[in-house]
Amino acid sequence: MQTNQGITLVTGAAGFIGYHVAHRLLKDGEEVLALDNLNPYYDVRLKEARLAQLNRFSGFRFEAVDLADRAGMERLFAQHSIGRVIHLAGQAGVRYSLNNPHAYTESNITGFLHILECCRHARVEHLIYASSSSVYGGNTRVPFSVHDNVDHPVSLYAATKKANEVMAHSYAHLFGLPCTGLRFFTVYGPWGRPDMATSIFTKAILAGEPITLFNDGRMRRDFTYVDDIVEGIVRLLDHVPGPDPTWSAESPDPGSSSAPYRIYNIGNNQPVELLDLVTILERTIGREAVKQFAPMQPGDVPSTYADVDDLIRDVGFRPATPLEVGVERFVAWYREYHGL
Ligand SMILES: NC(=O)c1ccc[n+]([C@@H]2O[C@H](COP(=O)([O-])OP(=O)(O)OC[C@H]3O[C@@H](n4cnc5c(N)ncnc54)[C@H](O)[C@@H]3O)[C@@H](O)[C@H]2O)c1
Repeated sequence: MQTNQGITLVTGAAGFIGYHVAHRLLKDGEEVLALDNLNPYYDVRLKEARLAQLNRFSGFRFEAVDLADRAGMERLFAQHSIGRVIHLAGQAGVRYSLNNPHAYTESNITGFLHILECCRHARVEHLIYASSSSVYGGNTRVPFSVHDNVDHPVSLYAATKKANEVMAHSYAHLFGLPCTGLRFFTVYGPWGRPDMATSIFTKAILAGEPITLFNDGRMRRDFTYVDDIVEGIVRLLDHVPGPDPTWSAESPDPGSSSAPYRIYNIGNNQPVELLDLVTILERTIGREAVKQFAPMQPGDVPSTYADVDDLIRDVGFRPATPLEVGVERFVAWYREYHGL
């Protein structure tokens, strides 16, 4: 199939990971077309501030489009020659999905269908999209492997991410659209999302306010520094999947296919207890946290831990930024951004 050699579209470029990916591509001298609807899930000023950074590059173009707006999406793809798509826009957050399920079907299901349809008709060379470690749901075998079955999500957020993977598979199979799904593990770093633990704890510790530790702080997360996520994405962008000749329908491997379809974990491969994250934050900030302990929250999983063997095998890379180093960079950014 003749593919499109056009510009790279980064969706969700006003968001945390999308901002970092766009920034990296622009720094590497590439042109970037960006899409975001700047929705108020969290402080829109942070999204605008990220866009202001990206606007400094001459190769950056931004379009305010909602993924769920079919006509708007079709117009975007008609107006630009789009060669590759890095799809990072979406409704994130596990807890929010318990009370706001429709935001997830609109952005992550309807929106993702529009991405697939537009990529199909534009003959996009490669679609990379964000899945999530949350698809492992009730699995207890660690480290979590892309070769394990993930049919037991424990939140609607996770269910929409799993749905994205199977939707992508059908388009890879039917239309030969090369699709790479990436399961990110708890991403943190400068310009990070205010609804995530690192931001919430930093804000509270600096203000002398109490922090709540669910599951008595024994929750384990494979915290992954955002630059490692970006490095994985950039390397995989040039690694366009083809049909896997070793894949067998008799014993189907969930991470691969006879279609041009692959799934990868991008995680630090080193889970850390939330209490240990707090200790590192306390040391970095130079102030003790006021800790409140609480039980597990519905929809949460006790532990995440990424098996990254496939990432190492295919693109020779494994995330390796130590939590102490990443947290120091995050706190430095946080203080500067908030003028503290
Ligand atoms: N940050 C993490 O730890 C993490 C972990 C696993 C998966 N992910 C996934 O990675 C992707 C990026 O996450 P993030 O942390 O950068 O989140 P983010 O919320 O900071 O970024 C998402 C961006 O998408 C935009 N967006 C949302 N719905 C949209 C819509 N309907 N139309 C257009 N734009 C829309 C938002 O305005 C936001 O700027 C998401 O799909 C998320 O689910 C993130």
